[in-house]
Amino acid sequence: MRTARRARNAGFAAMPASSSADPVAVFRPARYAGGVIALHWLVLLLMIGAYATMELRDLFPKASPERAAMRLWHYGLGLAVLAAVFVRLLVRASTRPPGIAPPPPPWQERVAKLAHVALYALMIALPLLGWLAVGAEGRPITLAGIPLPMPIGPDKAWVKPLEKIHEVAGQAGYALVGLHAAAALWHHYVMRDNTLALMWPFAKPR
Ligand code: HEM
Ligand code: HEM
Repeated sequence: MRTARRARNAGFAAMPASSSADPVAVFRPARYAGGVIALHWLVLLLMIGAYATMELRDLFPKASPERAAMRLWHYGLGLAVLAAVFVRLLVRASTRPPGIAPPPPPWQERVAKLAHVALYALMIALPLLGWLAVGAEGRPITLAGIPLPMPIGPDKAWVKPLEKIHEVAGQAGYALVGLHAAAALWHHYVMRDNTLALMWPFAKPR
């Protein structure tokens, strides 16, 4: 009774979770920490921007200033994803994750964990590959007046392979994020559990 009150006061909701016998471990936060939620949706917006600047670049003729600006925005938005993911990992590591209620079978939890690791790998590898490709090209880039430091020096032989791997990783990203978002909606509308509420800033704890 007292433990329940203490947990509620600390912003925790009662949730049947883990098999642990520790009564305090039964209580898990009702949703992700505010910082994790903010960075999750910010990264989604940044990634939409990064994809859009590449997918829509053919709206402008080659060598036009608009197309060059799209490329610069692409680099900037992509590098912002890379910066955000490190902050997000720090916030994530220093806060407690919530649990889905009612809890899904353990195999589904394992698949979800694997998907989260893959999404983090995507958020790190995709911008890094693009940055390496730009470095290999050897053209100096200035973003918001700041010269972009390059991770590698010019090397023409690496430009095409790096661009190709970046492109393939970008396509894998569509599939991964698409499946992840579909899974979240399936949980919400079909399973009718609290999965979406865990990441939704305006949700009331159920
Ligand atoms: C989350 C971040 C990023 C996403 C989602 C992303 C996605 C993409 C996509 C979809 C393409 C088009 C591939 C094609 O069909 O040809 C592309 C191309 C490219 N990206 Fe990224 N990218 C990201 C970050 C970056 C970063 C940080 C850089 C460099 C600093 C970069 C540099 C490039 C380059 C050089 C190309 C080839 C451009 C061209 O063909 O003109 N990308 N990216
Ligand atoms: C419309 C798009 C999206 C929806 C509806 C969505 C929804 C959700 C929901 C409901 C959760 C909490 C469920 C859980 O813990 O399994 C979650 C977690 C997560 N999402 Fe998304 N998401 C979207 C886009 C993205 C994107 C673009 C990324 C990164 C590329 C991403 C990465 C993650 C990660 C890594 C987690 C685990 C929690 C964390 O460590 O931050 N999501 N998402």
